[in-house]
Amino acid sequence: MPEAVRFSLQNLTCAYSGKVVVRGVSLDIPASGVTAFIGPSGCGKSTILRCLNRMNDVVPGFSLSGRVLLDGEDLYGDSQDPVLIRRRVGMVFQRSNPFPTSIFNNVAYGLKLHFKLTRAELELEVEQALRAAALWDEVKDRLHTPAMRLSGGQQQRLCLARALAVKPEVMLFDEPASALDPVATAKVEELVMELGRQMTVVIVTHNLAQASRVADRTAFFLRGELIEFNRTVDLFTNPQRPETEAYLLGRVS
Ligand SMILES: Nc1ncnc2c1ncn2[C@@H]1O[C@H](COP(=O)(O)OP(=O)(O)O)[C@@H](O)[C@H]1O
Ligand SMILES: [Mg+2]
Repeated sequence: MPEAVRFSLQNLTCAYSGKVVVRGVSLDIPASGVTAFIGPSGCGKSTILRCLNRMNDVVPGFSLSGRVLLDGEDLYGDSQDPVLIRRRVGMVFQRSNPFPTSIFNNVAYGLKLHFKLTRAELELEVEQALRAAALWDEVKDRLHTPAMRLSGGQQQRLCLARALAVKPEVMLFDEPASALDPVATAKVEELVMELGRQMTVVIVTHNLAQASRVADRTAFFLRGELIEFNRTVDLFTNPQRPETEAYLLGRVS
């Protein structure tokens, strides 16, 4: 059985103020499991990730050609609503960015925006999202205290809860653990793997060990081009391209 495709990137090319930074990338991201993007800093990983939920729309000077299909639909088609796309495709960033309000309000924000819920329903959804982000037990007694008082690792899981609350079909992670200590990193990695069993997950990481731990498939990029995309175990143990092998051996910076 061929795997169902969530995103189909077709000859995707991206530029900032006319300078091309992603060149002719064609890639099918399967609907299930975790897909990792790896490659040296500046190779275009974040740019490509942001194309998957139109986060680049707000970047001045950004332009794109080629196509990005989500479940076969053109994400950049005229009838698409970027706000709705970002509900379907959630994102967690390298630096956690909680809103300067309470823990509860952070998670409730998107729920209030997208759904009409009673107070009791809202409370239940907030609890479920915090549980899904493995944060509930740590915050259930202080939901109405400022989110900014949480530790870095907790803030990152709060941002995940906020994204999960609106029931996305896809979660994107852009180096979600690179500012975290090893214990907090391990918690985030556990969550990424857990979510990968339920939904489409794409994670950008510059940490090769992390990609090999969490990802079912890995795409390796170099200077804006896709070099190799394969099952993670195959890419790491039997790279098909000399560029991939050189990078894995630390010979490309
Ligand atoms: N907002 C921006 N404006 C101009 N150039 C950018 C912007 N964001 C990224 N770039 C450039 O695009 C290239 C790819 O960046 P990025 O996608 O962030 O790579 P990566 O995530 O792999 O480190 C880099 O040369 C970077 O400097
Ligand atoms: Mg990046």
